[in-house]
Amino acid sequence: MRFKRSVANPRRPTGSVRTSRRASPASSRAWELSLFSLLDTERLGQALGSALQGGETLALYGPLGVGKTAFVRGVVAGLGASQEDVSSPTFVLIHEYRGRLPLAHIDLYRLNSLREIESIGLEEYLSGPMVTAIEWADRARAMLPEDRLEIELRHRSVKSRSITLMATGPLSATLLARARRSHGHPSKLPRSRRADSPKGKKSS
Ligand SMILES: Nc1ncnc2c1ncn2[C@@H]1O[C@H](COP(=O)(O)OP(=O)(O)OP(=O)(O)O)[C@@H](O)[C@H]1O
Ligand SMILES: [Mg+2]
Repeated sequence: MRFKRSVANPRRPTGSVRTSRRASPASSRAWELSLFSLLDTERLGQALGSALQGGETLALYGPLGVGKTAFVRGVVAGLGASQEDVSSPTFVLIHEYRGRLPLAHIDLYRLNSLREIESIGLEEYLSGPMVTAIEWADRARAMLPEDRLEIELRHRSVKSRSITLMATGPLSATLLARARRSHGHPSKLPRSRRADSPKGKKSS
């Protein structure tokens, strides 16, 4: 599919999402933490998944094997969808999951030009009601909505990672605040939506 423009696409909040237009302080827009295991990464993703309200864009950055897909596996669990088949969609490019909210998991690693990226319909996903989680989002920076949650993972050691989550607008700031609350209280989640539940956890 071809698109007329490839400019930044301001996200319209969906009707179910209430956001404040007031600017939040920088400290409430960024969250940096250490993840000491795969489970930590999945749990953080799960807290984020349980905090989603619909239509958000999660832009994931970081090198090969840093844990982007592991994080999305947690997000899918937090939405209450089956995470059995959450793998890097490197070959399929897009996987859709149907949990409490629909989510499209997109991997841009193998796409080298904006023309190729446009051809998979990225802009339609980004302007539609689905939550989108995009690995290698830097490949499509010009097409990303202004309001997105930027998630950057970095290697620290074989098993530990650092992660920074940065909100760039009111929708993502609300998501970040809700995720921080949810991450502080994981026991409030139903067991079926916790990444450490036997059903939900998947080792890789
Ligand atoms: N703290 C951690 N968080 C996430 N993954 C970890 C962690 N420690 C070890 N790992 C391992 O690192 C690998 C992460 O793989 P994953 O597919 O999630 O990376 P990715 O960033 O999606 O890579 P790609 O760019 O190839 O898609 C897995 O093998 C996982 O077991
Ligand atoms: Mg991946």
